[in-house]
This record gives sequence, structure tokens and C-alpha cells, in this order.
Amino acid sequence: MKARTRPVVIAGDPVLHRPAAPVTDFGPELAELIEDMFATMYLAEGVGLAAPQVGVSQRVFVYDCHDESGEFYKGHVVNPVISHASAELEDGDEGCLSVPGPYAPLPRPREVTITGVDQHGEPLRLTGTGFLARCFIHETEHLDGILYIDHLSRRRRSRVLQDVEPFSWNAPLPF
Ligand code: NI
Repeated sequence: MKARTRPVVIAGDPVLHRPAAPVTDFGPELAELIEDMFATMYLAEGVGLAAPQVGVSQRVFVYDCHDESGEFYKGHVVNPVISHASAELEDGDEGCLSVPGPYAPLPRPREVTITGVDQHGEPLRLTGTGFLARCFIHETEHLDGILYIDHLSRRRRSRVLQDVEPFSWNAPLPF
């Protein structure tokens, strides 16, 4: 099975703005989707990618991201749920492959724990700190139809959207 990259859809595409369906089929199609999502994330030089970003409304994401100690973690999570988020927040800039180009400051919990399953349906429990925590929460929110820009003020949100510039790996602008 050879992974292929898929176009990353851009904010405004309806698939990004509605909740994705729980994964119930743990067959070869899911494995193929995950492989393709990794290939797409690396092509786009991203640190995380959720299935709706490649137009698939299913609850799965992939990541390859460092935590606050600088160590990299790579994997995928199916049907993730945020089971704990620290009250302590951390400032940082956030971006999204579906909002290509700009970044905006957004405080996020410093530590996040998620539960879910892997592509075989085996339970997973992951705790991340720093940028990895930011990634876990950002990607899980994608599956609920929430983009990071939805947390910004209306003014900043529209400014960020004005600065969107698609890359070669993006799908055409939906507007
Ligand atoms: Ni994103």
C-alpha cells in the first residue's frame, strides 16, 4: 500500500465546520486514510492533521510534534476525547494547515490528556505538554468542527482569514 497525499481543504469548506462522525470501521480503509494523512502532513510540513482537513468527516487525527522538553512524539488517535486539560495556560502562536499562511497568539492549556483508540480499536491514553498539548487540543477540536480562529476575536479572525494564502498542497479556496 503506497500512501498518497490528499489536498488540504481551507476554512470555509463546510467539512471543517461540522462535527465529524465517530469511526466505526477499523478496516483497511482507515489504515490507508491514516497513511495518507501522514504523507499529507509531512508534505505540508505540519505537526498535526485531522481527517476533515482532507475532506473526510471521520474522527481521527495524526501528529508528529514536540512537547515542552523538546522531545518529538508521533502517532494517530481515533475517536479522541479530551479527558483532562490543565487550568494552567501557556501563551503561544497557533496556525493551521487549513488556514494557510498566518499565525495568531492563542493561550492553551499547558498539559492535556486525551483518550481514544488506535486504528485496531485498542485503547490509547496520551498526555502531552507545551506544543504537543496545543496540538492534541487543536486536532481534537477539528473533529468537532472548531478551528483555532473560532477562539479569536471577530476582528482578529477576519484579519487572519484575509491573510490566507493557499500553498500547492491546498485545495482551491472555497470562497
Ligand atoms: Ni488545524
